[in-house]
Amino acid sequence: MRKIESIKSIREYLSVARKADSLIGFVPTMGAIHAGHRSLMRAARADCAEVVVSIFVNPTQFGPSEDFAQYPRPIKADLAACAEEKVDAVFCPSVEEMYACGSATTVQVSGLTEGLCGGHRPGHFDGVTTVVAKLFNIVQPDIAYFGQKDAQQATVIRRMVHDLLWPLKIVVCPTVREPDGLAMSSRNAYLTPHERRQALCLHQSLSEAQAAIEAGHRDTGKLIEHMRERIVSAGPCAIDYIAIVDPDDLTDLRMVEKRCLIALAVRIGSTRLIDNILVDANSSAG
Ligand code: PAJ
Repeated sequence: MRKIESIKSIREYLSVARKADSLIGFVPTMGAIHAGHRSLMRAARADCAEVVVSIFVNPTQFGPSEDFAQYPRPIKADLAACAEEKVDAVFCPSVEEMYACGSATTVQVSGLTEGLCGGHRPGHFDGVTTVVAKLFNIVQPDIAYFGQKDAQQATVIRRMVHDLLWPLKIVVCPTVREPDGLAMSSRNAYLTPHERRQALCLHQSLSEAQAAIEAGHRDTGKLIEHMRERIVSAGPCAIDYIAIVDPDDLTDLRMVEKRCLIALAVRIGSTRLIDNILVDANSSAG
């Protein structure tokens, strides 16, 4: 496995794969690799002859009071994890390498970025789409892999690729969870043991809402209220949002009709956690 830090070197490295007409699969990450990231690498490995992972903690997607400085950067363990997943190359540029010429240009997807996390993290998705656009231009993958865990991010990136006519396919892989249901996240490491137990209420409230929809409940206001009660009863926290939206355009639904995305963001202690679940009301008994 190659570890590559400069844009020039990764371009040179990939020009060989491109000449050989090898399918290039790309998994962008911010490192602190866990089983969720690994599932994306495995999906890429199954589809593509050349698998590239990027590890870059992107400063422009963190707000001024967020955890950029504190974000875990266990680069040795990350490289070992990538090697175990038979990744061909890991691109891990410095901030200077990615933002050398300053940043007069921002890639911004409107509409889809306004609600859910976008409403609580101003500028976050501009940082994500701008860095992902840069990474796509550097790697020029045939297929890029994202996780359903960050449902809004995946939807926004799909839209960016569609609107900018990028000749690449986006694959969204299911959320990988701990055995007790907590969605894997690099930020779970911030939780104290007590907060870690409390955090189970996120997935539990999502599962309960899914069960309620499957039992025929359709009023999203009531479903959200039950989820809110469930989360508040688990302990002190700050709920950024609980929403039931159309999975394609992320607009709020008043009644569940067909497919819906139930998404939430909750701060427990100083850790902000997100989770979501896709529910198909048509495949239920109700
Ligand atoms: P990061 O949080 O490191 O996540 C990298 C990829 O892993 C994302 O596509 C994310 O959705 C996916 N992922 C995270 N947890 C997952 C889980 N439990 N199950 C499945 N997939 C999971 O998302 C980012 O980095 C950044 O915003 C990035 C796209 C790299 C741009 O900087």
